[in-house]
Order: sequence, then structure tokens, then C-alpha cells
Amino acid sequence: MKTFNIAVIPGDGVGQETVPAAWRVLELAGQLSNAFAVRSHVFDWSCAYFQRHGHMMPENGLDLLKPFDAIFLGAVGFPPVPDHVSLWGLLLPIRRGFDQYINLRPIKLLRGITSPLCGYHPGDIDFVVIRENTEGEYSNSGGRLRVGTPQEVVVQNSVFTRFGTERVIRYAFNLARASRQSLTSATKSNGINFSMPFWDEVFQEVGEEYPDVKQVLYHIDALAAYFVTRPQTFDVVVGSNLFGDILTDLGAAIQGSIGIAASANINPEGQYPSMFEPVHGSAPDIAGKGLANPIGQIWTAKLMVDHLGFPDVGANILEAIERALEKGHKTPDLGGTDSTQSVTEAVMTELRHLYPPL
Ligand code: NAD
Ligand code: IPM
Ligand code: MN
Repeated sequence: MKTFNIAVIPGDGVGQETVPAAWRVLELAGQLSNAFAVRSHVFDWSCAYFQRHGHMMPENGLDLLKPFDAIFLGAVGFPPVPDHVSLWGLLLPIRRGFDQYINLRPIKLLRGITSPLCGYHPGDIDFVVIRENTEGEYSNSGGRLRVGTPQEVVVQNSVFTRFGTERVIRYAFNLARASRQSLTSATKSNGINFSMPFWDEVFQEVGEEYPDVKQVLYHIDALAAYFVTRPQTFDVVVGSNLFGDILTDLGAAIQGSIGIAASANINPEGQYPSMFEPVHGSAPDIAGKGLANPIGQIWTAKLMVDHLGFPDVGANILEAIERALEKGHKTPDLGGTDSTQSVTEAVMTELRHLYPPL
């Protein structure tokens, strides 16, 4: 049986609560299925670490992470450290440094959850957003001139390379082909007149190789509305870094709560470790109270298990989540009164039921 070495970064705020919770489920899934074992190496990199050391991770942080089979992360960012300092000191350097150019975020209405959208039932909403994860609007290019003066000018560049755009679109097409349905491209070629017409051009070029996949282009503003008015029509959605970011919080909302949304930062070539972290952040408003929903982190563990090569075990983790939700185990974000701990226990109980002793 294979043992995976996982770099665990609980990070800030509720990450400190959801990561240990999800780790218990992950370990149990490995044991019950007899398919794999996991060994954790915990890194305390966070805003608290920043306050002690003056940086979010050591200078050789990426070298330390590189040998691991995967990275399991909670959340990064907590006052008083400014967000652009914490995120550009830890999370974003990992995504970019390890060329995790695919950010895969499932949007699915699970059993046991009532969507805030009327009339939708579990299974009606079920699609995946593929977000470009290393360039675009998050390109770390720009600057400020005449700082603090009335003449101040701020420039923030978006960098779209042909290589970077083509590979994420191709990945999304392959995924859409595997599920034999449609690929929707999030664009904005009316108002953003260089990057977005280019994105559309690449989408159309790559799309010629996929005549079997239905291809749809929507401007991001209209697409945001369609997420609300007809989410059942989407299969795979591909978008730039910022568009994908915003769409997936909206997706999280229509699937019931940001607290349950999962995410995988993938380096498809396997040259570097991939990183698994939920869509939500450190939730400073509820941190430390035992109220955080652990399901986003547990579903994220399921994505990691899929990635490590055990989709059957991953499917059982999701099934256990759904059964626990159906029995009413919900934290306050889903309208319940459960704690992080009791939802985690409920998922573990359901997982045990899925692997009856021989
Ligand atoms: P957030 O996702 O942390 O919180 C938004 C809302 O969702 C809050 O009301 C919060 O209570 C709720 N929420 C989030 N996670 C929850 C959970 N597991 N269970 C129940 N409710 C939950 O977003 P924000 O407030 O914009 O950001 C807070 C901090 O987190 C900032 O520093 C931000 O930069 C950072 N952040 C980090 C990540 C990441 O590390 N991947 C993602 C988003 C935000
Ligand atoms: C996410 C987050 C991050 C992002 C922030 C914290 C930099 O919102 O993972 O969705 O924008 O990618
Ligand atoms: Mn986000």
C-alpha cells in the first residue's frame, strides 16, 4: 500500500479548524479503503508566522514543498497583515511557482442542501469551473506613480500568453469532451479590447479540434446572471484568473454556501506538487469559534484523493458528505446548529457505513 507524503499548511483563521478536521476524514478514508496511507508534514506558515519572522514562508519555502506528493492548505490572510502581502507571500507564489495552471472548482448541488435558488433539486446543478491560475489579471505587473498626490497614477497589467491561454482552454476542452457536453468560455471582448479578443481567438482555434464539444461564449456579466437564472445548462466553464475567481464564489453561493466549495490547483504534468485548498478564505468573522463548515475542506480532500489516483475512494468521501447533510448535520452557514467537530464526526460515521467490515 502506498503512503503519500502531504505538506499540510493550515494557514490562517478557520484553516486552523477545517484542516485538522478534513485530515481525520482523509486518514480514515485511506484506512477503511485499504488503498493508501497519508503522512503529514505540517508547516506553520501563516500571518502569525509573518508577525514573528517578517515573511509568510522561508525563502526556500518552495524547495521545502517540492518533494511532497501534494499540498493540503486551509486559508491564507488575516488582519492586521495586509492581504496583498500575505497572499503574495504564500498562496500565490505556490500556485505560480509550481505552475498549477489549472484551478478546478466543482459546482454541484449536493443532496441534503437547499439551494438559495428556488426550484432546484440535488443533481440539477452540476458543473465544473476551470480557472486559469498563473497569469492573466494576477500577473504581478504594474506600479504606482506620484504616490499619494492628486496626480497619482496606478497601472495594473494583465498578462495573457498564447502558451498560458491555450493550455488552460485545451484542458477545459478535454474535460468537456470526456463528459461529452458543452464548454462555456467566460469572456469580455466588448470592453476589454486586447486580452479578451485574444482569449476568444485562442478558444476558437483550439475549439476547431473539438467539433464534438458544444462551444458557447458569454460575456462575463451575462454569464454571471446565467449562473443564477439557468445554472442547470452548464457543464464545463473556462475563464481567466479573475473571472474564474469571481464566478466560483457565485457558484459556491448557488450550491448553498461558500463553506462547502472545493478547489484543486493542479499542475497537470506532475512536474510539481499540486495544491488542494477550499474556495473560501480564513473567515475572520467566525474563526476560532468551532462554527466553520468543514465540508469545503473535506470535499477538497476528496479532490486530492482523486488526483492521487483513487477516484472510488473520492466518490465515497462525497457520498459520506451527502449522507451526513441529508441527516441534517449542518453548520450555521447552512442554517444548522452543528459545529465543525460534529459535522466532521457525522461524515466519518457515514464513511464507516460505506465500508462495512468484511
Ligand atoms: P472568506 O471566504 O474568508 O469569508 C466570506 C464569508 O464566508 C464570511 O462571512 C465567512 O464567515 C464565510 N465563510 C467562509 N468560510 C466559511 C466556512 N468554512 N464555514 C462557514 N462560513 C464560512 O472571504 P473574505 O472575508 O473575503 O476573506 C477573509 C480573508 O481570507 C482575507 O484575508 C482574504 O484575502 C482571505 N482569502 C483567502 C483565500 C485562500 O486562502 N484561498 C480565499 C479567499 C479569501
Ligand atoms: C481564491 C482567493 C484568492 C484568489 C485570493 C485570496 C488571492 O480568493 O482562492 O479564490 O483570488 O485566487
Ligand atoms: Mn476567491
